[in-house]
Amino acid sequence: MSTLLEVRDLHKSFAGEPTLAGVDLALKEGERRAIIGPNGAGKTTLLNLIGGQLRPQAGHILFAGQEISGWPPHRRAREGIGRTFQISSAFPSLSLSDNMLAAAQAGHSWLHYAPEARRRAEQLLELLALGAKAALPVAQLSHGERRALEIGLALAARPRLLLLDEPTAGLAAGETEGVTKLLQSLEGVALLIVEHDMQVVEKLADSITVLHHGRVLAQGSTLEIQANPQVQAIYLGKAHAET
Ligand SMILES: Nc1ncnc2c1ncn2[C@@H]1O[C@H](COP(=O)(O)OP(=O)(O)OP(=O)(O)O)[C@@H](O)[C@H]1O
Ligand SMILES: [Mg+2]
Repeated sequence: MSTLLEVRDLHKSFAGEPTLAGVDLALKEGERRAIIGPNGAGKTTLLNLIGGQLRPQAGHILFAGQEISGWPPHRRAREGIGRTFQISSAFPSLSLSDNMLAAAQAGHSWLHYAPEARRRAEQLLELLALGAKAALPVAQLSHGERRALEIGLALAARPRLLLLDEPTAGLAAGETEGVTKLLQSLEGVALLIVEHDMQVVEKLADSITVLHHGRVLAQGSTLEIQANPQVQAIYLGKAHAET
């Protein structure tokens, strides 16, 4: 498998305070990587740098071999980087279908692509197990259904890489299970998932990157990371790190 995303020596400071201090990360086509680490470690900042919502002070981000760190978010999206946000991007008063259609249609001319977009919207709602609710307004969905829809809206543009920031945060156990299964069912999409729930990480991730104070503390398989004493000390709570 070829490398899809490569982050090299990435630096980001806010008001002179370093949040990311030289992060390296490489992701293969179709790989599922979890990013874990304590609050404030820089996980969301890293996703924002890859998605283009923020610009780094130094370092490189290569996507499919191209340097993208100067590109605006919409160009990155067009090239195949999808993103879900904590704050919903769906229109609550519109139906699931219309929301999905708008997302599937984004960046294309209505006339030319409408039938293809409609098929794509229908397929995605089925994949999300929301086909039966296609005509309902988004406002009537449960929290978990809404989270699934957000993922579907991001998938509508056929991303090669999907960035997910805590996709199961605030969900009930059954809803977490649903979102986890949905993500497991995706094919041909690399995932970079910030996730605090280690059970979700275990089910989903091929590999884990641990961020701590804006640096990569460890990287490896789930088993390797769980067995790493430094990781246990700072994150998994099996021992207490010195202050
Ligand atoms: N836009 C911003 N302006 C100023 N400081 C910021 C900004 N974004 C992030 N930071 C700072 O960078 C640090 C890392 O934040 P970030 O949100 O990336 O952490 P995180 O690992 O996602 O944490 P959490 O697990 O709580 O979501 C924090 O100290 C935060 O205050
Ligand atoms: Mg965060």
